[in-house]
Amino acid sequence: MATSDATHVLMTGATGTLGRALAPRLEQAGVRVTGVASADADVRDGGAVHRLVAAHAPDVVLHAAAYTDVAGAEHDRATCWDVNVAGTRHVADAARAAGARLVHVSSDYVFWGGEDRPPGGYRETDPPGPVRNTYALTKLAAEEAARRAPDALIVRTSFRPDAWPHPTAFTDLFTSQDYVDVIADLLTDVVRHHADVGNDGTEGAGHDVLHVATERKSVFDLVRRRTPGVAPGVRADAPVALPADVSLNTDRLAALRAAWRAAEAAA
Ligand SMILES: NC(=O)c1ccc[n+]([C@@H]2O[C@H](COP(=O)([O-])OP(=O)(O)OC[C@H]3O[C@@H](n4cnc5c(N)ncnc54)[C@H](OP(=O)(O)O)[C@@H]3O)[C@@H](O)[C@H]2O)c1
Repeated sequence: MATSDATHVLMTGATGTLGRALAPRLEQAGVRVTGVASADADVRDGGAVHRLVAAHAPDVVLHAAAYTDVAGAEHDRATCWDVNVAGTRHVADAARAAGARLVHVSSDYVFWGGEDRPPGGYRETDPPGPVRNTYALTKLAAEEAARRAPDALIVRTSFRPDAWPHPTAFTDLFTSQDYVDVIADLLTDVVRHHADVGNDGTEGAGHDVLHVATERKSVFDLVRRRTPGVAPGVRADAPVALPADVSLNTDRLAALRAAWRAAEAAA
């Protein structure tokens, strides 16, 4: 098993919730990180993205930039589509031109997660969709855009900031998301070992999707771990349609991490 501690990662979305948590962890793990945001290149500008990636010549492009306002996307569909879909296409093309591996950050919202279909516990190999809202549609389309880069790795995840910004949290939305520090630790492990994520012999081997998440719980149960005073809420209160259960099966991640730990112990 190869570890990639000398890897140079160019990370889009570096000023975002995930990017800010991930960069220091990657650096701590010996990965060289160049973090960029919209001031460096707007992902909607293909030429600017191409020049940026070419200039840095990274081994990995970790694409964490996105339009993430799920409710706002219903009113500004064009911006959400351009940033998430066209933007990912530009990043994938730039990664391909630079010979860099693309690690694309996707979402559990690519699944329907409803009561009328087998909900939750989605595996990497399950067909995604249909989707609930505009943001989810763009994240699903972005996965296909990411595949313009050869050997792209699509990481489906979900996370929350440490400080919950709302008075309530949904008791009827089930998820495998976790706090961003927990997810950033898992993603650091994946990025360090990205070269091993592919045809690795575990279930889904050769599949280009990896679920990076933790156990199934309601958003309310997650939030009250660190915000005990949060009040229960329901999805019907949200200004946008949301899934009921988008929990992700993480067997593949568990098998990979067990193999990485075994290899480290044997080294
Ligand atoms: N938060 C969640 O629960 C969740 C769940 C599943 C998946 N995800 C995915 O995880 C990734 C990171 O999400 P996040 O919550 O960390 O995002 P975030 O906090 O909303 O930050 C968005 C990042 O994207 C950048 N960005 C936005 N528009 C851009 C543009 N046009 N050109 C270049 N950069 C642009 C922003 O840069 P500026 O600061 O310069 O604007 C910022 O760095 C996204 O792909 C998101 O879809 C998030």
